[in-house]
Amino acid sequence: MTTSEVIADLVIHGGTIVSPDAEYQASVAIKDGMILAIGKRQAMPQASDYLDATGLHILPGAIDVHVHFRDPGYPQKEDFASGTAAAAFGGVTTVFDMPNTLPAISDAKSLREKHEIASTKAHVDYGLYAVLGEESLTNIGELIDGGIIGFKCYMGNTFGRIPSPTTGAMLELFEIVAPTGKRISLHAETNSIMERREARLRRMGRTDPLAHLAARPAVVAVEAVERAATLAEWTGARIHILHISSTAELRPLADAKDRGVDITGETCPQYLLLSADDYEAKRGVIRVNPPVREAENNDPIWQALVDGTIDMIATDHAPHSIEEKTREDIWTVDCGFPGVETQMPLMLTEIARRGASLSDYVRWSAESPAKRWGLFPRKGALMVGSDADIAIVDTNLTWTIDDALTQSTARISPWHGMEATALPIHTIVRGKFAMKDRKLQEDARGWGRSVHDIQVMPPAEVRNSDQTMEAVTSARRSATT
Ligand code: NCD
Ligand code: ZN
Repeated sequence: MTTSEVIADLVIHGGTIVSPDAEYQASVAIKDGMILAIGKRQAMPQASDYLDATGLHILPGAIDVHVHFRDPGYPQKEDFASGTAAAAFGGVTTVFDMPNTLPAISDAKSLREKHEIASTKAHVDYGLYAVLGEESLTNIGELIDGGIIGFKCYMGNTFGRIPSPTTGAMLELFEIVAPTGKRISLHAETNSIMERREARLRRMGRTDPLAHLAARPAVVAVEAVERAATLAEWTGARIHILHISSTAELRPLADAKDRGVDITGETCPQYLLLSADDYEAKRGVIRVNPPVREAENNDPIWQALVDGTIDMIATDHAPHSIEEKTREDIWTVDCGFPGVETQMPLMLTEIARRGASLSDYVRWSAESPAKRWGLFPRKGALMVGSDADIAIVDTNLTWTIDDALTQSTARISPWHGMEATALPIHTIVRGKFAMKDRKLQEDARGWGRSVHDIQVMPPAEVRNSDQTMEAVTSARRSATT
């Protein structure tokens, strides 16, 4: 059968495709949710629908490996429908949702409930994280069987008060996860350091926004990254460092990569575009963990993305209500803010400003996350046979971010009032429009699917398996005379 005999579902013509190494004019044909053909317009099959993308760029939909959609538990902040609608408006076609919901995702039952919620509400595809902590230690198998994209380990305190495991528990948890090949994403901030400093600052009466930064200097993150990398190296577990916020974290990250640890890192727009200079004006609105730091961190973090030390861009989309973000006393302000909807516009604006390329962006936002979580080339690529997950973007349109107009329930962010020079116009998820002409496509609600069952991680390379907790406490070893 030649392509001329096939009737495609959609042909997009006139646009410029952005791949990880090139930009080129081509048409794209989509059938049954997958990319059927890419090439000259004359070579495309007949289609039941056409989209004119003249003047627009065609990117693989972004994969945001770090969002908090709050469902179940905190509907005043967000739910899976509003969160994934925000993703669709941001050109994001797959999200990985964090487990600090209510209940937290730490056993098969809570995971099953979240799968039910997500599969009925999601406008885009998703993966679900499970908590890696002392409470889930005996549930690793059932969580993997229940369908997760990976584990999330909170080394520092977090919204939802998930207790951070001791280093001893972390080692045992890494030993158990290593042979499964699943990646462990870490909130790498060492609890004991920042708790001690926060207590002292509170006792002396500090309640101003910069006290939050004073409680969590970069060493809080550096110590955690080093420790996590040591445990990963020892056990062979795969790890991912979430929200890299400082220059100082780059050395332990790069060192671990040099030693052959399977470690990846993400940063977020807030650590590239905001700085300590913004606390005075934005106050609690920019309170986030890890904190937005001194401006001298911005350039080295950007450079680390460019040179590949940092692998990808994510958002840590962490919505809270206006009341929760505007309290006077900084210690009572909820940490985090939305980002899934504005990441692509802000990053494309920054790319233009710094002279990077759209191809760089495609590597950081789509290809790299897909590869690191075993989804490539089904996800994160515009290739024949890939899922038709596509962001069609105007990269030449100046507009101003307005929190009142976003899809997220949160309606308060530090991005309000910032100017961007790019905007996703259409977002397609497995061949279906989730957003078209900046309008949410209601029939795409519930279209999103969990990506765990298309995940193929490379075989695990377990180390020191003869010395694990399991090995040294097994019956055979302990049966001495
Ligand atoms: C996150 C949240 O609100 O869930 N907040 C944040 O400041 N980043 C939790 C987290 O990732 O620590
Ligand atoms: Zn975090």
